[in-house]
Amino acid sequence: MDDLNLRMEVAQPADVEISSPPTFPRLSTVKKFSCGPTGTGNFLVHGENHDVLKSMGRWMEGRVKCAYLDPPYRTGERFTHYDDDAKHEDWLHDVTTRVRKVWELLAEDGSIWISIDDHEVHYLKVALDRVVGRQSFVTTVVWQQRTTRENRKVFSNNHEYVLVYAKSPRKFAQSRNGLALTEDIRGRYVNHDDDPRGPWQSVSANVQAGHAVASQFYTITAPNGRKHVPPNGRCWAYNKSKMDLEIAQGNVWFGRDGNGVPRIKKFLGSGGKGVTPETLWPASEVGTNDHAKKHIHAMFPGDPLFDTPKPEALIWRVLHVASNPGDLVLDPYLGSGTTAAVAMKTGRRFVGIESGEHAATIAAARLRQVVDGEGGGISTEVDWQGGGGFEFLRFR
Ligand SMILES: C[S@@+](CC[C@H](N)C(=O)[O-])C[C@H]1O[C@@H](n2cnc3c(N)ncnc32)[C@H](O)[C@@H]1O
Repeated sequence: MDDLNLRMEVAQPADVEISSPPTFPRLSTVKKFSCGPTGTGNFLVHGENHDVLKSMGRWMEGRVKCAYLDPPYRTGERFTHYDDDAKHEDWLHDVTTRVRKVWELLAEDGSIWISIDDHEVHYLKVALDRVVGRQSFVTTVVWQQRTTRENRKVFSNNHEYVLVYAKSPRKFAQSRNGLALTEDIRGRYVNHDDDPRGPWQSVSANVQAGHAVASQFYTITAPNGRKHVPPNGRCWAYNKSKMDLEIAQGNVWFGRDGNGVPRIKKFLGSGGKGVTPETLWPASEVGTNDHAKKHIHAMFPGDPLFDTPKPEALIWRVLHVASNPGDLVLDPYLGSGTTAAVAMKTGRRFVGIESGEHAATIAAARLRQVVDGEGGGISTEVDWQGGGGFEFLRFR
């Protein structure tokens, strides 16, 4: 930290403020907290998010691919860096107002991801359904935010939620990225029949008959003669002519004896955009609050610890699913700067907004370390070597 501050002071005179394109009403650049070349398209903004969103709104409109919101959860606590004791109605009003504004800024295939815990999730869900439309709701992710048991409580609360809404769920479904195949998932693909297309796994060829049409009910004759009809309440996934084609193309598996219940082959190589993300995000994959705190502590040893950071791995998964390198990511409750750090490490552009003084003392200081090649969080996984920069803006 000392080194970093020293270098900044030498390189840039204290408190010199410049304006640089693009400019925004009532926002000015604070050069001593900015870092790297201008024009990176990355903005760390110190100000009340409602004001800042208004100021930058025109520039961001229709461009935000992924907005991640991690508002105070209304825990009733007064944390070292911010208070979290708003009244329920005020809190709900504030958060929904921000979501309404962010919603206007989303790209057509953009999405909003909102972290929240058990106390307010149900109220927030209903309120957001009203603000952005129930049809925009995509899913609720459950994140295992701790792995240790809290023995003093009636229940040890080990999970939180991330509510996901998309401007157009249809376009989001087309553009969202799948997850990389893990060794575990890869291991589920086997080449039982030496198929030249490589390893595969099979999924059921019959589906629930709720929305079935008549052409999905017929008899399939297995290669060795056994006849199969769909079980009660189910129908075949395809109509007869499509099923015949799939069988002819070797895409249906009838077991080793050629008489088994038909199953559809899914090839390892056919994923294209990766595997479908599941809604349960375990700590082993995306980290815990504790991981995040240790990471922040390692970056700022001896400083008062920021109480509620998110792990970089969690945010990486959000950004990975919802955006691509070069896309604009928005976080209006930036806190310690996790979203901005992950955006930089994974090649996204960002706007991060934080009202507390820690916009400069923690978030900006953290991002300067990131520019210098900081090695914690997801750095190893993404082979982060440093580089880039950001402009620090302050609302007046
Ligand atoms: C739960 S923390 C976010 C933590 C962040 N995700 C991280 O990984 O560090 C919420 C943050 O929102 C900030 N905040 C609360 N209300 C705000 C507002 N109206 N405008 C900007 N920031 C706000 C708080 O100061 C706090 O830093």
